[in-house]
Amino acid sequence: VYSPLFSKPLPIPPVKQPLKKIINPITGKEIWYYELVIKSFTQQIYPNLKPAQLVGYDGISPGPTFMVPRGTETVVRVINQYTKEASVHLHGSPSRAPFDGWAEDVTLPGQYKDYYWPNNQAARFLWYHDHAVHVTAENAYKGQAGSYIITDPAENALGLPSGYGQFDIPLVLTSKYYNSDGTLKSIAGETDSVWGDVIHVNGQPWPFFNVQPRKYRFRLLNAAVSRSFALYLVRTTATGTRLPFQVIASDSGLLQKPVSTTKLYLSIAERYEIVVDFTSFKGQTLELRNIPEVDDIGTDDDYAKTGQVMRFVVSNTAVADTSRVPATLATVPFPPASTGVDHHFRFHRSNGEWLINDVGFADANNRVLANVPRGKVEIWELENSSGGWTHPIHVHLVDFRVLARRNADNNRGVLPYEAVGLKDVVWLARHETVLVEAHYAPWNGVYMFHCHNLIHEDNDMMAAFNVTALQN
Ligand code: C2O
Ligand code: CU
Repeated sequence: VYSPLFSKPLPIPPVKQPLKKIINPITGKEIWYYELVIKSFTQQIYPNLKPAQLVGYDGISPGPTFMVPRGTETVVRVINQYTKEASVHLHGSPSRAPFDGWAEDVTLPGQYKDYYWPNNQAARFLWYHDHAVHVTAENAYKGQAGSYIITDPAENALGLPSGYGQFDIPLVLTSKYYNSDGTLKSIAGETDSVWGDVIHVNGQPWPFFNVQPRKYRFRLLNAAVSRSFALYLVRTTATGTRLPFQVIASDSGLLQKPVSTTKLYLSIAERYEIVVDFTSFKGQTLELRNIPEVDDIGTDDDYAKTGQVMRFVVSNTAVADTSRVPATLATVPFPPASTGVDHHFRFHRSNGEWLINDVGFADANNRVLANVPRGKVEIWELENSSGGWTHPIHVHLVDFRVLARRNADNNRGVLPYEAVGLKDVVWLARHETVLVEAHYAPWNGVYMFHCHNLIHEDNDMMAAFNVTALQN
C-alpha cells in the first residue's frame, strides 16, 4: 500500500532543448533539430522495496516537454535504445503520413528514425507517445509519453497565467499497478483493460504542489492506459462542496470562451486546460479528486485511493497577480456546416476481439474503412455498441467538432466545454452515439483512427481512412 499520500512534490518535466536550429531554404524559417532517446530507467516508488523498471524518452517519464513556437518546424531523431520496437505519434498534429507514428512503421532496437513535424497550428497542448503495433499499451504504461506545447503570439497576448513550470503547469495523469516487491506489474497479454490502483501525476503517485494564492494554468492530459477520470476540486477540510474552475482549452487549443465547471471528464488521450484561482484559499489545502467509476460514463474498476489525485498547498502570503482569463479567448476554426452522415462506425466486441465495423487492424486487406477526398467536410457517426464499456475515439490528422451525443439511457448531450472548441478525441459512454464533423485536410495519406483505451487499440480496435487526392 502506498502511503502516505501527498508526501512527495509534483515533478515538472524539463523543457527539451534543440541541438541545433537550421534555416529551411524554402520557407526561410527555422527548423529545430532534436534527438530523443528511448531508454530504460528505474524509479523508486516504494521506499523500502525494489525499484520499478520503466522506459521513457530520455530515460524519464513523462518525457521532456517540447515548447515550440507556431511556424517553427521540428525534426526529431528518435533513437531506440530499448529492447522493444517503437513508433512515435505526435498526437494532435496533422503530420504527413510517414511521420505520423503508423503502428507498423516501427523503429527496431538499435535503430533511429527522424520525424518531421510541421507545428503550423494555433497554440495547443499536444502530446507524443508510443504507437507500435500490439505493444503500445505496454510501451506507454512503462513511460513512453510526454507533453508537446505549441505557443503563439495570439495566445501569449491574452494575459493568461504563464511561465512553464511556474504558473503554467502540465499535469500528466497515469494509473498503474505494482507488485508487492515494489516492481511494476506486467500488463503483457492483457485483453480487457488496465485500470491501475495507483494514480500518478507527472510520474509521481499522489503528489502535492505548493502554490501561491493566485491564478494558475494547468494542462491536464490523461496518459493512462485505460482509466478515465471525472475530476473535481475541493478544500481538503470541507465536505462536499466542489469548487468551480475555468476550462480554457481542449485537445485542439483555446476554446471560444472560458467555461466554468465543477466537474471535468478527462478520458484517455484527452487534454483540457484549466485555470484555477487560489486567491481566496490562502493557507489552505485543496485536492483534485476523481469521481468513482468516472461518474456515470465509465465502468472503470476503482480501488481505495483512485478517488484521489493530488493536493495543492496554498501559501499564506498574498501576491500580486496580473494574469487574467478574458471573456473571449479565440476564434475557433469550426468546419463549415455539412449535413447527413458520411460514415458510420460501430465500436464493439466479438469473440473476445475489439473491432470497428467487424474489422480489426490485423485484417490488413480490409482495415481501410473510409476513403475521403481531400478537402471534404464529413460527418462521422461513432456508435458504442459494446454494452458497458467506454471507448475514447481518436481520429488522426484532423480536429473535429462534436455535433451531438445521443444516449438511450440519458440525455447528456454535448458537454458545455466540448461545444465551444475542437477536439481530436471523444469518448463514447455506454450505449452512446456521437456525431463528429471534420475537414479532411491538409494532406493525402492513410491515417489511423482507433479507441485510445490502449488495450483495446492493441487488441485491434483500430482501423484506417485514406485521404485521397482531389478529383478535378
Ligand atoms: Cu494518441 Cu493514434 O494516438
Ligand atoms: Cu475501447
